[in-house]
Amino acid sequence: MSYGADPTLNERATAVPAKVNVPNLSAFKARAEKLAMMTAYDFTFASLLDRIGMDLLLVGDSLGMVLQGDASTMAVTTEHIAYHTKAVAKAAKRALVIADMPALSYATLERALQSSQTLLAAGAQMLKLEGAGPMIDITAQLCARDVPICGHLGLTPQSLHKLGGFKVQAQGSAAAEQLLQDALALERAGVSLLVLECVPSSVAKAVSSQLRIPTIGIGAGPDCDGQVLVLHDALGLGTHRRPKFVKNFAEMANPEQALRNYVLEVKSGAFPGPEHQY
Ligand code: KIV
Repeated sequence: MSYGADPTLNERATAVPAKVNVPNLSAFKARAEKLAMMTAYDFTFASLLDRIGMDLLLVGDSLGMVLQGDASTMAVTTEHIAYHTKAVAKAAKRALVIADMPALSYATLERALQSSQTLLAAGAQMLKLEGAGPMIDITAQLCARDVPICGHLGLTPQSLHKLGGFKVQAQGSAAAEQLLQDALALERAGVSLLVLECVPSSVAKAVSSQLRIPTIGIGAGPDCDGQVLVLHDALGLGTHRRPKFVKNFAEMANPEQALRNYVLEVKSGAFPGPEHQY
């Protein structure tokens, strides 16, 4: 894809607009502007991502895999996320910083409040937690205490063992309907954003159209209100199995231009293409 041909696209990613905050997230959806999100774990990359117009920086528990070399996110602790959140928050001048709550760190309200305090003190502006069911109540309790929350449905890596591996979720009408009901329940509980991971594009499209809050897809097709990738995957540096939804933006560009191209393609809707969907 050529970016030089469309100056408006380059302008949109380089003429970085006003600071992203929790109240103005819904305005992105209202004006049909896609949200560009990527994981960030350190000051240098977070500064670069912030500068080139990434809207949302996620200190993901994927750091257990891409930084620590584990096969899953299971061993990541709140302290690990807090350490990296501090570095990312120092760099984020415009982007909103979201920190992942690690596996079981929000299993009870008491634990959730403790982890939230640690991550907010580290500089997170929103926290992400996975799943629905018993998490709906915990989510509602955190939202009622003005902790901004991002939900995460579909392939939830913290449930890896129960799911039996990294597999596409919400296949079949019953599972798709359950995902929709879970998404609506999370919205009612007060979440401000919802990540949909590895679900058929048609399901993500239906969910996105029924929610008022923005959805962020990863392996969830082009009709989500934004996209997220793991930084190392977007730069072609991932050492784990490369999922279908990953595009290596660094194949044709230096790292800075590669990441700029990701923002441009998310904003224009060129990414994800048909070859990145289920
Ligand atoms: O931990 C992470 O990086 C994530 C994204 C893949 C959404 O949760």
